[in-house]
Amino acid sequence: MASVVVVGTQWGDEGKGKVVDLLTKYADCIVRFQGGNNAGHTLVVNGKKYVFHIIPSGILYEDKSCMIGNGVIIDPGVLLEEIAELNGKGLPVTPGRLLISENAHLIMPYHQMLDHAREAALSKGKKIGTTGRGIGPCYMDKVGRVGIKAGDLLDPVQFSEKLQANIEEKNFYLTKQYGAEAASFDAIKEQFEAFAEQLAPFIGNVSMELDKARREGRNILFEGAQGTQLDIDHGTYPFVTSSNTIAGNACIGSGFGPAHIDEVIGILKAYTTRVGEGPFPSELPEGDSVGDELQKKGGEFGATTGRRRRCGWLDMVVANDAVRLNGLTGLAITKLDVLSGQPRLKIGRKYTVEGEAFDCMPANIRKTALARPVYEEVDGWDEEISEVRDFNDLPQNARDYVKRIEDISGVAPVIVSVGPDREETLLLRNPFEK
Ligand code: GDP
Ligand code: IMO
Ligand code: MG
Repeated sequence: MASVVVVGTQWGDEGKGKVVDLLTKYADCIVRFQGGNNAGHTLVVNGKKYVFHIIPSGILYEDKSCMIGNGVIIDPGVLLEEIAELNGKGLPVTPGRLLISENAHLIMPYHQMLDHAREAALSKGKKIGTTGRGIGPCYMDKVGRVGIKAGDLLDPVQFSEKLQANIEEKNFYLTKQYGAEAASFDAIKEQFEAFAEQLAPFIGNVSMELDKARREGRNILFEGAQGTQLDIDHGTYPFVTSSNTIAGNACIGSGFGPAHIDEVIGILKAYTTRVGEGPFPSELPEGDSVGDELQKKGGEFGATTGRRRRCGWLDMVVANDAVRLNGLTGLAITKLDVLSGQPRLKIGRKYTVEGEAFDCMPANIRKTALARPVYEEVDGWDEEISEVRDFNDLPQNARDYVKRIEDISGVAPVIVSVGPDREETLLLRNPFEK
């Protein structure tokens, strides 16, 4: 029995969906613990593509229990659409298979409106490039102690009271501060009454269920969203998301004790991508031939917003930050196949900022924007590797690249992914097997 946390080590989109799907095979419960439908997790099973924004990707296995923890924020309309889509694909989502924490906060229509209005009001260079899903404003309400929780859907009186108070305040900001449209109490109330009816059977106590599962000796998988550098405390603030994306939040965001976590697996893309604004030291700017090749070959378009992902070299300053901040016990290296055909590969080892050396991401965002990586270079490989199923069958230079990542980070790979499909994977060690 083991409890395993999976987190992104970079700026998101590392391939968490695929890796979680793989590890789900060995898990009984799969839990999301933070973020909302800003996440987009793509997995490919037998050539069929699935994209999840809010439901744990483990839902593809029929006999697993999926949970949405208190640390997640839920747009009920999006969740219901996702449920309907899965039902339509012959994967019935029943209350026995999906449990939603009563303590998870709801993304309300005014959160999305405020997200858009705030971004529009920011000048160039200050915009975050958010997904526009209402993430920041929803977490602000949570921390500001005025948020509406999933559990409030079960209590119409409390829901109405909270909605009324929020509408008054939000409409003040929307209309007076941003010159935007006001939100309608009546329309939201009616819409959410319908949501409540459909979601009520799914809402319950995730912490209690997880505790029961642990005591019964079940394997639990915690599925992170976003990535370490998007963490609200430890990322490239303010160009981050509004939740803690690192492993510590697996416990807080689900109601599970830290002493019961056995493994933390960091997903590391073999190069780096970032979607949205903000500093990215190892970026290969648009127009750079290698950057453009990685973008094209890696299919680097956002699963949520369809935006082009910025691409760059592997940055081990970022990786080592993730090792430290998450306490990583294993790495899952993804998209190694995308590097095939590059004659030389660069690996970022440290930064210089105005003559000063940094071994970690600078806390000062102005310095981060000026950070220039110091690279080491290694030889690449020509062969396509998506058909390889045994690590030892990889070209020597591909094996050396993986070994170099292990040596620099001090963390051994447990998975090497060589293509988007479930099958295109080399499992070196199963973190659920002690
Ligand atoms: P997530 O947000 O971390 O779950 O990642 P996304 O799903 O947003 O983006 C990762 C993309 O890479 C998806 O389209 C995956 O299907 C794809 N992918 C995952 N692993 C691999 C891999 O090893 N090779 C290739 N070529 N694609 C991969
Ligand atoms: P997954 O789980 C990549 C980025 C946005 C923006 C910043 C803040 O698929 O890895 P937000 O809407 O959260 O307030 O936007 O964070 N961002 C992501 N980038 N992958 C994600 O999720 C992301 N979720 C948010 O692009 O820069
Ligand atoms: Mg994604």
